[in-house]
Amino acid sequence: MTQSNVNEPVIATPDLIRGKQSSPCAGDPGLPRRSAPCKDENMHRLIADVQMGYSLPQDFYVSDAVFAADMEQVISQKWILAGHVSRIPNKGDYFLFKIGGEQIIVIRENADSVRAFFNVCRHRGSTICQAESGNAPRLVCPYHAWTFGLDGRLISARLMPDDFDKAENGLHPCHIRVFHGLIFINMSEGAPDDFDATFGDMGPILDYHGIAGARIAHAGSYPTTANWKLVIENFFECYHCVPSHPEFCSMHDAESIVAVGAGPSSGPADAIQAYAPKIAAWEARAAALGRPVGNIDDAADSSHLRLLMQRMNKDGWAAETQDGTAPSPLMGKRTAPDKGRMHLSFSPFSQIVADDHFVILFQFTPRSALESDVEMIWLVDGRATETEVDIEKMVWGYHATTSQDKIITENNQAGIMSSRYRPGRYSEQEGSVVKFQQWYLNQFGLERVE
Ligand code: FES
Ligand SMILES: [Fe+2]
Repeated sequence: MTQSNVNEPVIATPDLIRGKQSSPCAGDPGLPRRSAPCKDENMHRLIADVQMGYSLPQDFYVSDAVFAADMEQVISQKWILAGHVSRIPNKGDYFLFKIGGEQIIVIRENADSVRAFFNVCRHRGSTICQAESGNAPRLVCPYHAWTFGLDGRLISARLMPDDFDKAENGLHPCHIRVFHGLIFINMSEGAPDDFDATFGDMGPILDYHGIAGARIAHAGSYPTTANWKLVIENFFECYHCVPSHPEFCSMHDAESIVAVGAGPSSGPADAIQAYAPKIAAWEARAAALGRPVGNIDDAADSSHLRLLMQRMNKDGWAAETQDGTAPSPLMGKRTAPDKGRMHLSFSPFSQIVADDHFVILFQFTPRSALESDVEMIWLVDGRATETEVDIEKMVWGYHATTSQDKIITENNQAGIMSSRYRPGRYSEQEGSVVKFQQWYLNQFGLERVE
Protein backbone atom coordinates (compact mmCIF):
# COMPACT_ATOMS: atom_id res chain seq x y z
CA MET A 1 0.00 0.00 0.00
CA THR A 2 1.23 3.48 -0.77
CA GLN A 3 0.69 6.40 1.57
CA SER A 4 -1.53 9.19 0.33
CA ASN A 5 -0.21 12.68 -0.13
CA VAL A 6 -3.19 14.96 -0.50
CA ASN A 7 -0.97 17.97 -1.19
CA GLU A 8 -0.09 16.55 -4.57
CA PRO A 9 -2.32 17.50 -7.50
CA VAL A 10 -4.96 14.91 -8.25
CA ILE A 11 -4.31 13.33 -11.63
CA ALA A 12 -6.82 10.99 -13.14
CA THR A 13 -4.72 7.89 -13.63
CA PRO A 14 -5.42 4.32 -12.63
CA ASP A 15 -2.15 4.26 -10.66
CA LEU A 16 -3.44 6.92 -8.28
CA ILE A 17 -6.34 4.74 -7.24
CA ARG A 18 -4.44 1.47 -7.04
CA GLY A 19 -3.67 0.45 -3.49
CA LYS A 20 -4.29 3.86 -2.02
CA GLN A 21 -4.44 4.07 1.74
CA SER A 22 -5.01 7.31 3.56
CA SER A 23 -3.07 8.00 6.69
CA PRO A 24 -3.33 11.69 7.56
CA CYS A 25 -1.00 13.03 10.20
CA ALA A 26 -2.34 15.60 12.66
CA GLY A 27 -0.62 18.94 12.22
CA ASP A 28 0.39 18.59 8.58
CA PRO A 29 -0.91 21.58 6.64
CA GLY A 30 -3.52 20.77 4.05
CA LEU A 31 -4.40 17.38 5.49
CA PRO A 32 -7.95 16.55 6.56
CA ARG A 33 -8.96 18.38 9.70
CA ARG A 34 -9.69 16.30 12.79
CA SER A 35 -12.76 17.07 14.87
CA ALA A 36 -12.02 19.03 18.03
CA PRO A 37 -11.77 16.63 20.98
CA CYS A 38 -15.14 15.87 22.52
CA LYS A 39 -15.60 17.61 25.89
CA ASP A 40 -18.48 15.41 27.01
CA GLU A 41 -17.26 13.52 30.10
CA ASN A 42 -19.98 10.91 29.71
CA MET A 43 -18.72 10.08 26.20
CA HIS A 44 -15.19 9.78 27.56
CA ARG A 45 -16.39 7.24 30.13
CA LEU A 46 -18.39 5.29 27.56
CA ILE A 47 -15.52 5.20 25.09
CA ALA A 48 -13.09 4.02 27.79
CA ASP A 49 -15.34 0.98 28.32
CA VAL A 50 -15.32 -0.12 24.67
CA GLN A 51 -13.53 -3.39 24.02
CA MET A 52 -12.26 -3.55 20.45
CA GLY A 53 -13.21 -6.76 18.65
CA TYR A 54 -16.62 -6.69 20.35
CA SER A 55 -19.86 -4.95 19.45
CA LEU A 56 -20.35 -1.61 21.20
CA PRO A 57 -21.93 -1.20 24.64
CA GLN A 58 -25.69 -0.60 24.68
CA ASP A 59 -25.58 3.19 25.15
CA PHE A 60 -23.92 3.66 21.76
CA TYR A 61 -26.97 2.14 20.08
CA VAL A 62 -29.84 3.51 22.19
CA SER A 63 -28.92 6.72 24.01
CA ASP A 64 -30.23 10.15 23.00
CA ALA A 65 -27.16 11.74 24.63
CA VAL A 66 -24.83 9.60 22.50
CA PHE A 67 -26.84 10.48 19.40
CA ALA A 68 -26.45 14.20 20.24
CA ALA A 69 -22.69 13.67 20.56
CA ASP A 70 -22.69 11.72 17.28
CA MET A 71 -24.41 14.64 15.56
CA GLU A 72 -21.86 17.13 16.89
CA GLN A 73 -18.63 15.14 16.53
CA VAL A 74 -19.35 12.90 13.55
CA ILE A 75 -22.46 13.48 11.44
CA SER A 76 -22.21 17.28 11.21
CA GLN A 77 -18.51 17.13 10.31
CA LYS A 78 -18.71 14.87 7.27
CA TRP A 79 -19.36 15.35 3.58
CA ILE A 80 -22.50 13.29 3.03
CA LEU A 81 -24.17 12.22 -0.21
CA ALA A 82 -27.53 14.00 -0.44
CA GLY A 83 -28.58 12.97 -3.95
CA HIS A 84 -27.97 13.16 -7.69
CA VAL A 85 -28.26 16.33 -9.75
CA SER A 86 -30.75 14.75 -12.14
CA ARG A 87 -33.32 15.00 -9.30
CA ILE A 88 -33.36 18.80 -9.67
CA PRO A 89 -32.86 19.56 -13.38
CA ASN A 90 -34.70 22.93 -13.55
CA LYS A 91 -34.12 26.28 -11.91
CA GLY A 92 -36.00 26.36 -8.58
CA ASP A 93 -36.27 22.55 -8.29
CA TYR A 94 -35.53 21.52 -4.71
CA PHE A 95 -35.70 18.63 -2.29
CA LEU A 96 -35.34 18.40 1.48
CA PHE A 97 -32.52 16.33 2.91
CA LYS A 98 -33.42 15.46 6.52
CA ILE A 99 -30.62 14.35 8.80
CA GLY A 100 -30.87 14.14 12.60
CA GLY A 101 -33.06 17.09 13.61
CA GLU A 102 -31.86 19.16 10.64
CA GLN A 103 -33.54 19.83 7.32
CA ILE A 104 -31.43 21.00 4.41
CA ILE A 105 -33.04 22.61 1.36
CA VAL A 106 -31.06 21.50 -1.71
CA ILE A 107 -32.14 23.79 -4.56
CA ARG A 108 -31.03 24.55 -8.10
CA GLU A 109 -30.16 28.24 -8.41
CA ASN A 110 -29.36 28.07 -12.13
CA ALA A 111 -27.89 25.71 -14.73
CA ASP A 112 -24.45 25.92 -13.12
CA SER A 113 -25.25 26.19 -9.43
CA VAL A 114 -26.94 24.07 -6.76
CA ARG A 115 -27.26 25.65 -3.30
CA ALA A 116 -28.04 24.25 0.14
CA PHE A 117 -29.65 26.10 3.07
CA PHE A 118 -30.88 25.15 6.50
CA ASN A 119 -34.69 25.09 6.36
CA VAL A 120 -35.01 27.75 9.07
CA CYS A 121 -36.59 31.17 8.53
CA ARG A 122 -34.47 34.06 9.77
CA HIS A 123 -37.57 35.77 11.22
CA ARG A 124 -38.84 33.50 14.00
CA GLY A 125 -37.52 30.18 12.84
CA SER A 126 -40.35 28.49 10.97
CA THR A 127 -39.46 25.91 8.38
CA ILE A 128 -39.81 27.45 4.94
CA CYS A 129 -40.26 24.39 2.72
CA GLN A 130 -42.72 21.76 3.95
CA ALA A 131 -42.97 19.54 0.86
CA GLU A 132 -40.31 16.86 0.45
CA SER A 133 -39.59 18.26 -3.02
CA GLY A 134 -40.96 20.79 -5.47
CA ASN A 135 -40.18 23.88 -7.50
CA ALA A 136 -40.02 27.41 -6.13
CA PRO A 137 -39.05 30.59 -8.00
CA ARG A 138 -38.45 32.11 -4.55
CA LEU A 139 -38.42 30.66 -1.05
CA VAL A 140 -41.39 32.19 0.76
CA CYS A 141 -41.90 31.47 4.46
CA PRO A 142 -45.54 30.43 5.01
CA TYR A 143 -45.70 32.13 8.44
CA HIS A 144 -45.21 35.87 7.78
CA ALA A 145 -44.11 35.70 4.13
CA TRP A 146 -40.48 36.69 4.41
CA THR A 147 -39.15 35.95 0.94
CA PHE A 148 -35.70 34.65 0.04
CA GLY A 149 -33.99 34.32 -3.35
CA LEU A 150 -32.56 31.09 -4.70
CA ASP A 151 -29.18 32.39 -3.53
CA GLY A 152 -30.55 32.59 0.05
CA ARG A 153 -30.64 36.40 0.23
CA LEU A 154 -33.61 37.98 2.01
CA ILE A 155 -35.55 39.82 -0.69
CA SER A 156 -38.53 41.13 1.24
CA ALA A 157 -39.77 41.44 4.83
CA ARG A 158 -42.76 43.67 5.53
CA LEU A 159 -42.96 46.46 8.14
CA MET A 160 -39.53 45.97 9.62
CA PRO A 161 -37.85 48.77 11.68
CA ASP A 162 -35.48 51.17 9.91
CA ASP A 163 -32.41 49.64 11.52
CA PHE A 164 -33.23 46.14 10.22
CA ASP A 165 -30.60 45.00 7.74
CA LYS A 166 -31.86 42.54 5.13
CA ALA A 167 -28.30 41.76 4.10
CA GLU A 168 -27.66 40.20 7.50
CA ASN A 169 -30.75 38.00 7.41
CA GLY A 170 -30.16 35.62 4.55
CA LEU A 171 -30.77 31.91 4.97
CA HIS A 172 -28.07 29.98 6.80
CA PRO A 173 -26.02 28.29 4.06
CA CYS A 174 -24.93 24.67 4.27
CA HIS A 175 -21.66 23.61 2.64
CA ILE A 176 -22.37 21.93 -0.67
CA ARG A 177 -20.32 20.43 -3.47
CA VAL A 178 -21.47 18.81 -6.69
CA PHE A 179 -18.90 16.22 -7.80
CA HIS A 180 -19.49 14.09 -10.91
CA GLY A 181 -23.24 14.67 -10.57
CA LEU A 182 -23.31 13.68 -6.90
CA ILE A 183 -24.56 16.30 -4.42
CA PHE A 184 -22.57 16.34 -1.18
CA ILE A 185 -23.51 18.46 1.84
CA ASN A 186 -21.54 19.20 4.99
CA MET A 187 -23.25 20.79 8.02
CA SER A 188 -20.05 21.87 9.76
CA GLU A 189 -20.28 25.37 11.28
CA GLY A 190 -16.67 26.11 10.44
CA ALA A 191 -14.56 25.24 7.43
CA PRO A 192 -15.19 21.62 6.45
CA ASP A 193 -12.54 19.11 5.41
CA ASP A 194 -11.11 20.12 2.06
CA PHE A 195 -13.34 18.35 -0.47
CA ASP A 196 -10.82 17.85 -3.25
CA ALA A 197 -8.12 16.64 -0.89
CA THR A 198 -10.59 14.18 0.59
CA PHE A 199 -12.40 12.88 -2.50
CA GLY A 200 -10.45 14.01 -5.57
CA ASP A 201 -8.99 10.59 -6.27
CA MET A 202 -12.48 9.06 -6.54
CA GLY A 203 -12.98 11.17 -9.68
CA PRO A 204 -11.59 8.73 -12.29
CA ILE A 205 -13.83 5.85 -11.21
CA LEU A 206 -16.96 8.06 -11.04
CA ASP A 207 -16.06 9.38 -14.47
CA TYR A 208 -15.62 5.87 -15.87
CA HIS A 209 -19.10 4.91 -14.65
CA GLY A 210 -20.58 8.08 -16.17
CA ILE A 211 -22.20 9.19 -12.90
CA ALA A 212 -22.36 12.86 -13.93
CA GLY A 213 -24.37 12.08 -17.06
CA ALA A 214 -26.54 9.37 -15.51
CA ARG A 215 -30.26 9.64 -14.88
CA ILE A 216 -32.44 8.32 -12.05
CA ALA A 217 -34.38 5.25 -13.19
CA HIS A 218 -35.87 4.23 -9.85
CA ALA A 219 -35.76 5.12 -6.14
CA GLY A 220 -36.72 3.20 -3.02
CA SER A 221 -37.10 4.05 0.67
CA TYR A 222 -36.33 1.59 3.47
CA PRO A 223 -36.71 3.54 6.76
CA THR A 224 -35.15 1.43 9.49
CA THR A 225 -35.99 1.51 13.20
CA ALA A 226 -32.40 1.22 14.32
CA ASN A 227 -29.43 3.32 15.29
CA TRP A 228 -27.31 4.50 12.35
CA LYS A 229 -24.27 2.56 13.57
CA LEU A 230 -26.19 -0.72 13.32
CA VAL A 231 -27.27 0.14 9.77
CA ILE A 232 -23.68 0.85 8.75
CA GLU A 233 -22.19 -2.09 10.65
CA ASN A 234 -24.60 -4.38 8.82
CA PHE A 235 -23.47 -2.99 5.48
CA PHE A 236 -19.82 -3.36 6.52
CA GLU A 237 -19.91 -7.14 6.85
CA CYS A 238 -21.01 -10.08 4.75
CA TYR A 239 -20.96 -12.60 7.62
CA HIS A 240 -24.74 -12.36 7.47
CA CYS A 241 -25.03 -12.72 3.69
CA VAL A 242 -25.38 -16.51 3.51
CA PRO A 243 -28.02 -16.83 6.26
CA SER A 244 -29.92 -13.65 5.36
CA HIS A 245 -29.58 -12.90 1.64
CA PRO A 246 -30.47 -15.74 -0.77
CA GLU A 247 -30.92 -13.36 -3.73
CA PHE A 248 -27.61 -11.57 -3.07
CA CYS A 249 -25.77 -14.88 -2.70
CA SER A 250 -27.27 -16.20 -5.93
CA MET A 251 -25.62 -13.28 -7.77
CA HIS A 252 -22.12 -13.77 -6.27
CA ASP A 253 -19.45 -16.46 -6.01
CA ALA A 254 -19.25 -18.01 -2.53
CA GLU A 255 -15.47 -17.49 -2.49
CA SER A 256 -15.92 -13.77 -3.16
CA ILE A 257 -18.49 -13.38 -0.37
CA VAL A 258 -16.12 -14.86 2.22
CA ALA A 259 -12.93 -13.13 1.07
CA VAL A 260 -14.05 -9.63 0.08
CA GLY A 261 -17.80 -9.57 0.73
CA ALA A 262 -17.64 -6.24 2.57
CA GLY A 263 -14.35 -4.73 1.44
CA PRO A 264 -10.84 -5.63 0.29
CA SER A 265 -9.80 -6.46 3.86
CA SER A 266 -13.13 -7.67 5.28
CA GLY A 267 -12.57 -11.46 5.13
CA PRO A 268 -10.13 -13.92 6.72
CA ALA A 269 -6.51 -13.36 5.57
CA ASP A 270 -6.15 -16.81 3.95
CA ALA A 271 -9.39 -16.35 1.98
CA ILE A 272 -8.26 -12.92 0.73
CA GLN A 273 -4.89 -14.35 -0.30
CA ALA A 274 -6.45 -17.26 -2.18
CA TYR A 275 -8.81 -14.93 -4.07
CA ALA A 276 -6.16 -12.34 -5.00
CA PRO A 277 -4.78 -14.00 -8.19
CA LYS A 278 -8.28 -14.17 -9.73
CA ILE A 279 -8.83 -10.47 -9.04
CA ALA A 280 -5.42 -9.64 -10.52
CA ALA A 281 -6.25 -11.50 -13.74
CA TRP A 282 -9.59 -9.69 -14.06
CA GLU A 283 -7.95 -6.32 -13.30
CA ALA A 284 -5.52 -6.82 -16.18
CA ARG A 285 -8.41 -7.50 -18.57
CA ALA A 286 -10.49 -4.59 -17.23
CA ALA A 287 -7.59 -2.13 -17.35
CA ALA A 288 -7.02 -3.05 -20.99
CA LEU A 289 -10.64 -1.99 -21.63
CA GLY A 290 -10.06 1.38 -19.91
CA ARG A 291 -11.26 0.81 -16.32
CA PRO A 292 -9.26 2.64 -13.63
CA VAL A 293 -8.55 -0.47 -11.56
CA GLY A 294 -7.41 -0.73 -7.93
CA ASN A 295 -8.83 -0.20 -4.50
CA ILE A 296 -9.07 2.42 -1.79
CA ASP A 297 -8.90 1.12 1.75
CA ASP A 298 -8.70 4.07 4.14
CA ALA A 299 -7.34 3.50 7.62
CA ALA A 300 -9.28 4.08 10.85
CA ASP A 301 -7.52 7.43 11.34
CA SER A 302 -8.75 8.80 7.99
CA SER A 303 -11.33 11.58 7.87
CA HIS A 304 -14.00 9.87 5.74
CA LEU A 305 -13.22 6.12 5.88
CA ARG A 306 -13.36 5.60 2.12
CA LEU A 307 -13.42 2.14 0.68
CA LEU A 308 -13.34 1.28 -3.00
CA MET A 309 -13.37 -2.33 -4.02
CA GLN A 310 -13.46 -3.51 -7.60
CA ARG A 311 -13.77 -7.11 -8.62
CA MET A 312 -15.24 -9.38 -11.27
CA ASN A 313 -18.83 -10.55 -11.51
CA LYS A 314 -19.84 -14.10 -10.84
CA ASP A 315 -18.63 -16.31 -13.68
CA GLY A 316 -20.88 -15.82 -16.69
CA TRP A 317 -22.82 -12.93 -15.10
CA ALA A 318 -23.11 -9.72 -17.15
CA ALA A 319 -24.93 -7.82 -14.39
CA GLU A 320 -26.22 -8.18 -10.84
CA THR A 321 -29.64 -9.51 -11.80
CA GLN A 322 -31.61 -12.71 -11.21
CA ASP A 323 -30.45 -14.43 -14.40
CA GLY A 324 -27.22 -12.47 -14.82
CA THR A 325 -28.31 -10.71 -18.00
CA ALA A 326 -28.12 -6.95 -18.44
CA PRO A 327 -31.24 -4.87 -17.65
CA SER A 328 -30.01 -1.68 -19.34
CA PRO A 329 -27.33 -0.38 -21.74
CA LEU A 330 -23.65 -0.04 -20.85
CA MET A 331 -22.86 2.98 -18.70
CA GLY A 332 -20.37 5.78 -18.97
CA LYS A 333 -17.14 5.49 -20.88
CA ARG A 334 -17.33 1.78 -21.59
CA THR A 335 -17.18 0.59 -25.16
CA ALA A 336 -17.37 -3.06 -24.10
CA PRO A 337 -18.39 -4.76 -20.84
CA ASP A 338 -15.51 -5.65 -18.52
CA LYS A 339 -17.86 -7.80 -16.40
CA GLY A 340 -16.74 -6.16 -13.21
CA ARG A 341 -18.40 -4.25 -10.40
CA MET A 342 -17.43 -1.83 -7.71
CA HIS A 343 -18.45 -0.98 -4.17
CA LEU A 344 -17.49 2.53 -3.11
CA SER A 345 -18.17 3.59 0.45
CA PHE A 346 -17.39 6.90 2.13
CA SER A 347 -18.17 9.20 5.03
CA PRO A 348 -19.39 6.34 5.87
CA PHE A 349 -23.05 7.26 5.36
CA SER A 350 -22.88 6.79 1.60
CA GLN A 351 -22.32 3.77 -0.64
CA ILE A 352 -22.24 3.31 -4.39
CA VAL A 353 -22.61 -0.10 -5.99
CA ALA A 354 -22.10 -0.31 -9.74
CA ASP A 355 -21.70 -2.86 -12.49
CA ASP A 356 -21.38 -2.34 -16.25
CA HIS A 357 -25.06 -1.48 -16.66
CA PHE A 358 -26.42 0.35 -13.61
CA VAL A 359 -25.41 2.17 -10.45
CA ILE A 360 -27.07 2.19 -7.04
CA LEU A 361 -26.58 5.07 -4.60
CA PHE A 362 -27.21 4.08 -0.99
CA GLN A 363 -27.85 6.79 1.59
CA PHE A 364 -27.79 5.79 5.27
CA THR A 365 -29.08 8.84 7.08
CA PRO A 366 -29.24 9.09 10.89
CA ARG A 367 -32.53 10.59 12.08
CA SER A 368 -32.54 9.89 15.83
CA ALA A 369 -30.99 7.43 18.29
CA LEU A 370 -33.40 4.71 17.11
CA GLU A 371 -34.28 5.77 13.56
CA SER A 372 -32.37 5.82 10.30
CA ASP A 373 -33.42 6.53 6.75
CA VAL A 374 -32.15 4.17 4.08
CA GLU A 375 -32.65 5.44 0.54
CA MET A 376 -31.62 3.77 -2.69
CA ILE A 377 -31.38 5.49 -6.06
CA TRP A 378 -30.85 3.39 -9.19
CA LEU A 379 -29.02 5.27 -11.96
CA VAL A 380 -28.72 4.29 -15.61
CA ASP A 381 -26.79 5.89 -18.43
CA GLY A 382 -28.25 9.27 -19.34
CA ARG A 383 -28.53 8.18 -22.98
CA ALA A 384 -30.62 5.07 -22.17
CA THR A 385 -34.25 5.32 -23.29
CA GLU A 386 -37.12 4.11 -21.11
CA THR A 387 -37.74 1.10 -23.32
CA GLU A 388 -34.10 0.03 -22.96
CA VAL A 389 -34.33 -0.19 -19.15
CA ASP A 390 -36.00 -3.17 -17.44
CA ILE A 391 -36.55 -1.67 -14.00
CA GLU A 392 -38.02 -4.79 -12.42
CA LYS A 393 -35.01 -6.82 -13.48
CA MET A 394 -32.60 -4.11 -12.35
CA VAL A 395 -34.00 -3.67 -8.81
CA TRP A 396 -34.66 -7.36 -8.09
CA GLY A 397 -31.44 -8.18 -6.25
CA TYR A 398 -30.78 -5.13 -4.12
CA HIS A 399 -34.44 -4.38 -3.39
CA ALA A 400 -34.71 -7.86 -1.86
CA THR A 401 -31.36 -7.51 -0.08
CA THR A 402 -32.10 -4.10 1.42
CA SER A 403 -35.60 -5.19 2.50
CA GLN A 404 -33.94 -8.10 4.31
CA ASP A 405 -31.30 -5.79 5.79
CA LYS A 406 -34.06 -3.57 7.21
CA ILE A 407 -35.58 -6.54 9.02
CA ILE A 408 -32.34 -8.02 10.38
CA THR A 409 -31.09 -4.61 11.52
CA GLU A 410 -34.37 -3.83 13.29
CA ASN A 411 -34.16 -7.26 14.96
CA ASN A 412 -30.61 -6.42 16.02
CA GLN A 413 -31.78 -3.12 17.55
CA ALA A 414 -34.67 -4.80 19.39
CA GLY A 415 -32.33 -7.34 20.96
CA ILE A 416 -29.85 -4.65 21.99
CA MET A 417 -32.66 -2.93 23.93
CA SER A 418 -32.73 -5.92 26.33
CA SER A 419 -31.31 -5.72 29.85
CA ARG A 420 -29.33 -8.85 28.93
CA TYR A 421 -27.52 -7.37 25.94
CA ARG A 422 -23.74 -7.48 26.29
CA PRO A 423 -21.15 -6.65 23.60
CA GLY A 424 -20.45 -9.77 21.53
CA ARG A 425 -17.25 -10.99 19.86
CA TYR A 426 -16.78 -10.34 16.12
CA SER A 427 -15.89 -13.08 13.66
CA GLU A 428 -12.99 -13.12 11.20
CA GLN A 429 -15.44 -12.00 8.51
CA GLU A 430 -16.29 -8.75 10.32
CA GLY A 431 -12.94 -6.96 9.99
CA SER A 432 -14.50 -3.89 8.34
CA VAL A 433 -16.92 -3.46 11.27
CA VAL A 434 -14.01 -3.35 13.70
CA LYS A 435 -12.31 -0.73 11.52
CA PHE A 436 -15.54 1.29 11.35
CA GLN A 437 -15.77 1.28 15.14
CA GLN A 438 -12.14 2.36 15.51
CA TRP A 439 -12.85 5.17 13.05
CA TYR A 440 -16.05 6.14 14.89
CA LEU A 441 -14.29 6.34 18.26
CA ASN A 442 -11.47 8.38 16.69
CA GLN A 443 -14.01 11.08 15.80
CA PHE A 444 -14.18 11.95 19.48
CA GLY A 445 -10.50 12.92 19.45
CA LEU A 446 -9.34 10.40 22.01
CA GLU A 447 -6.70 8.73 19.80
CA ARG A 448 -7.98 5.19 20.21
CA VAL A 449 -6.49 3.71 17.03
CA GLU A 450 -5.45 0.14 17.93
S1 FES B 1 -41.14 32.84 10.78
FE1 FES B 1 -40.81 33.05 8.66
S2 FES B 1 -41.72 34.94 8.14
FE2 FES B 1 -42.04 34.76 10.27
FE1 LIG C 1 -27.12 -7.32 4.25
